[in-house]
Amino acid sequence: MSGLAHERNNLWKKKRKKAREVKIEFNEWSGKSMDVKEAIRSRRSIGKVKQDPVDKALIEEILEAGTWAPNHCHTEPWRFWVMTGEGRGLLGKGYAEVAAAEADPALSKEELAKLKSAQEKKAFRAPVVIAVAVTPTAHAIVPEVEEYAAAHSAVQNMMLTAHSLGLGTIWRTGAPTYHPKMREAFGLAAKEELVGFVYIGYPDMAPPRAERTPFAQKTLWVSE
Ligand SMILES: Cc1cc2nc3c(=O)[nH]c(=O)nc-3n(C[C@H](O)[C@H](O)[C@H](O)COP(=O)(O)O)c2cc1C
Repeated sequence: MSGLAHERNNLWKKKRKKAREVKIEFNEWSGKSMDVKEAIRSRRSIGKVKQDPVDKALIEEILEAGTWAPNHCHTEPWRFWVMTGEGRGLLGKGYAEVAAAEADPALSKEELAKLKSAQEKKAFRAPVVIAVAVTPTAHAIVPEVEEYAAAHSAVQNMMLTAHSLGLGTIWRTGAPTYHPKMREAFGLAAKEELVGFVYIGYPDMAPPRAERTPFAQKTLWVSE
């Protein structure tokens, strides 16, 4: 074997060893594993979940997966709020305050109270809701758009991990997410922005049918 081939061979050996180590770490970490491709392909948004509680250890696995998202210059531009039980009232209050701020001023006191109560209930649609915010860093070479990219990647990691643990998730946003009253409820700093609420629980519905446009229709292969 030539010197170069020998060197390459060694490099591949090291890579294979590292891959084995990572796999072992993953198995130890989660107790179970789902092939990444299978998780990506089979994850669906699950809007209806049971109110059964979710073990804290599972929620921690989900959060940890979020923190392994790629992020430029290691800025780790995210913040999480885990809301369970009455804690979901934090989001509920946000929904209610946004609705009140946007409500028709002609509404009676009773009508307004009814509206707020209906909005507040939205936060209780799952036993666990994780709010995720991007916390952009003033980094010379990391534009804000990339901080959002990292925070969004964190959400995807979290959803795939939850799915691999047998949990259903849905990433919810909507106009209230970005409303000043919602910002106020979560006490966001100037540059921070909520990127979504991940509702988590054990599925109470069959995964919906899903379709995607074949990648060929979205892809240009450039080879010369
Ligand atoms: C940034 C973002 C925001 C979303 N907001 C909502 C939402 O407010 N309500 C909702 O029902 N689904 C929301 N979704 C979920 C999409 O509707 C869902 O991903 C899409 O229908 C594809 O279905 P799938 O996730 O099962 O593949 C959101 C997804 C993303 C990426």
